[in-house]
Amino acid sequence: MTTALITGGTSGIGKAFADRFAGSGHRLVLVARDAARLGSVAEELRGRGAGEVETLPADLSAPEGRAAVEQRLADGGRPVEILVNNAGFGLGRGFTKTAIEDEETLLDVHVRATLRLTHAALPGMIERGHGSVINVASVAAFAPRGTYSAAKAWIVTFTESVAAEVRGSGVRCIAVCPGFTHTEFHERGKIDTRDIPGWMWLDADDVVAATLRDLRRGLPVSVPGAQYKLLTAATRYVPRALTTRVSRGMSKRW
Ligand SMILES: NC(=O)c1ccc[n+]([C@@H]2O[C@H](COP(=O)([O-])OP(=O)(O)OC[C@H]3O[C@@H](n4cnc5c(N)ncnc54)[C@H](OP(=O)(O)O)[C@@H]3O)[C@@H](O)[C@H]2O)c1
Repeated sequence: MTTALITGGTSGIGKAFADRFAGSGHRLVLVARDAARLGSVAEELRGRGAGEVETLPADLSAPEGRAAVEQRLADGGRPVEILVNNAGFGLGRGFTKTAIEDEETLLDVHVRATLRLTHAALPGMIERGHGSVINVASVAAFAPRGTYSAAKAWIVTFTESVAAEVRGSGVRCIAVCPGFTHTEFHERGKIDTRDIPGWMWLDADDVVAATLRDLRRGLPVSVPGAQYKLLTAATRYVPRALTTRVSRGMSKRW
């Protein structure tokens, strides 16, 4: 039976991955900060047919939180076959209006945790000749919009590079780049989404289905949704100055 470790597995896109894997009888390791919520989500997933569900309360912005998850990933006696680096948050304000500590926390959770957890998981996967690393980036990776989009651009480039490095080992890596997705992300980050048109919204379950389809196809990057495939393709052809202007316009309320 396959074991999947999902960071941020209690809400939104991470919870949708957990639901999907529970439905196929996978064993799960769920990571998040809120221990009580981890417990109730684990209970729910057991009821949906998941194998064993472990909970690992950890703050991925802190060295000791990351170390606990790294240790679990490197435990050869309890192999993890699928790692989903998903935990994350948005700042909801521009760079000059955000405390430097919050900017650094964002880098720690999105970049440092993804880097370290991937590094901890890969040796065992390569030795066993199979495994998958799914890194949740964003369409924000394709447009200049603060530290968040810079961190997501790092995730995309990092994942493409690692995917190329492990090709032929039986291990696959993919970066998924969702657009606006119905989760708790915007409310938690105090991000005003009132002007975002309905056609731009995705469902977390559809994001997960598209990711797993593209993972099976061996793609290093997945952009769920036809609308976002078109928009991200366009960013390759329009001048960067225009992409920057549109991004600025979207964040004018910050
Ligand atoms: N929703 C969107 O529109 C959208 C679009 C593109 C990309 N994304 C990306 O999708 C990923 C998941 O976000 P979501 O939309 O599903 O948000 P969400 O509903 O707010 O879920 C975030 C999850 O991450 C966990 N988390 C947050 N900070 C953490 C930390 N320091 N340590 C450990 N766990 C932490 C949360 O649990 P605790 O609070 O208990 O720790 C929660 O389980 C993020 O990387 C986000 O950047 C989202």
